[in-house]
Amino acid sequence: MLAQKPPMGWNSWNTFGKEIDEDLIFRIADIMIEKEYKNAGYEYLIIDDCWALKTRDEYGNLVPDPQKFPHGMKAVADYIHKKGLKFGMYSCAGVLTCAGYPSSYDHEFEDAKQFAEWEVDYLKYDYCNFPKNADCINRYHTMSMALKASGREILFAACNWGSHDAWNWMRSIGAHTYRSTGDIFDNFHSFMNIFQSQMEHLSQSGPYCFNDIDMLTVGMYNKGNVAIGKPCTDGEYRMQFSLWCLAGVPLIMGADIRHINPEMEQLLKNKDLIAINQDIECRPPYLVGNRSVVVPEKDKENAVEPLRKIKNKLYTFIKHLSNNEFVIAYYNLFEEERDINFIFADAGIPYSSGYGFSMKDIFSGEEIGVKRDYHIVTVPGHDCKLYKCRLVYCGK
Ligand code: GLA
Repeated sequence: MLAQKPPMGWNSWNTFGKEIDEDLIFRIADIMIEKEYKNAGYEYLIIDDCWALKTRDEYGNLVPDPQKFPHGMKAVADYIHKKGLKFGMYSCAGVLTCAGYPSSYDHEFEDAKQFAEWEVDYLKYDYCNFPKNADCINRYHTMSMALKASGREILFAACNWGSHDAWNWMRSIGAHTYRSTGDIFDNFHSFMNIFQSQMEHLSQSGPYCFNDIDMLTVGMYNKGNVAIGKPCTDGEYRMQFSLWCLAGVPLIMGADIRHINPEMEQLLKNKDLIAINQDIECRPPYLVGNRSVVVPEKDKENAVEPLRKIKNKLYTFIKHLSNNEFVIAYYNLFEEERDINFIFADAGIPYSSGYGFSMKDIFSGEEIGVKRDYHIVTVPGHDCKLYKCRLVYCGK
């Protein structure tokens, strides 16, 4: 059974775009093992757009570009599988991929068979150049069926950017993940907008069919294909990675992991954060204090959905995990340091209950002891603090 937990892996697009070849893919496979990304949970190695020739062959088959992949795709699959990793590829529901390569519209069953012959384990299925009068939902259903008919278990990573309210039907048509947003770029506003746009839909994401809010840019520092705007700081990357973990969405790295700095490598392999992402109950985070907030009319106009409901730029989330554990997470969207105050009664623990939380700082590993009634924390600008917690009886 595929996608019982959010898939984890690496994809070529964010850093390399069209500059891909088999040497790069083999080296990334080596690194995923040597640097223990695989042990941390990252198992899919995904080749994105630009792997094919611009025309199909005389039999109508997709052809890997022989300059980029001289030994063909089965050889790539073999290399990846020998390392104990899984192999992901890319096609598109339109008539051409986003970068203008042949795509699977009206070729769904043949292409799925081809991917199965190459021993592909994961198919990202994009949405560019989709005919105006064609039926989006039906075409995604067609590829889903084609993969099921292919004779191989292939994870269907649908990527229609949330079109036609993807969260409402992708599970029904058999997708294992569904991209719900436009493309991520390697800057703070891009990833924040993406996360905020899906906060209300995360309750429709769960085992076997996860909302996919795009690939991580953690550790890229604007090197590569999605560099637009101001490069992220380490604090902003902490925000991005931990938000993706709280959301319980696929963790697909996009940085050049051959040359990533030690801090970012450590962040991407943070055991507590990954455990939060992979938690079996897959509950979306609860935004504390969201319900009672009244936003003045004048602010509503400028607010991006679903920011309209959010009072300010300080977020407190609580996420229920399995085994009676919780994460409490604070995000400061201001550029300057701020104190954030979390009254536990707002998350179902009134003072009169006698209960509090024992808390461990996830980034420093420090046990901060038991807090009762409230917790105040100072969070630097554009940064976050996360705590792993347990309920503790403190007495009445
Ligand atoms: C679209 C997708 C991206 C990437 C590119 C490739 O923009 O959303 O994730 O796959 O196409 O061309």
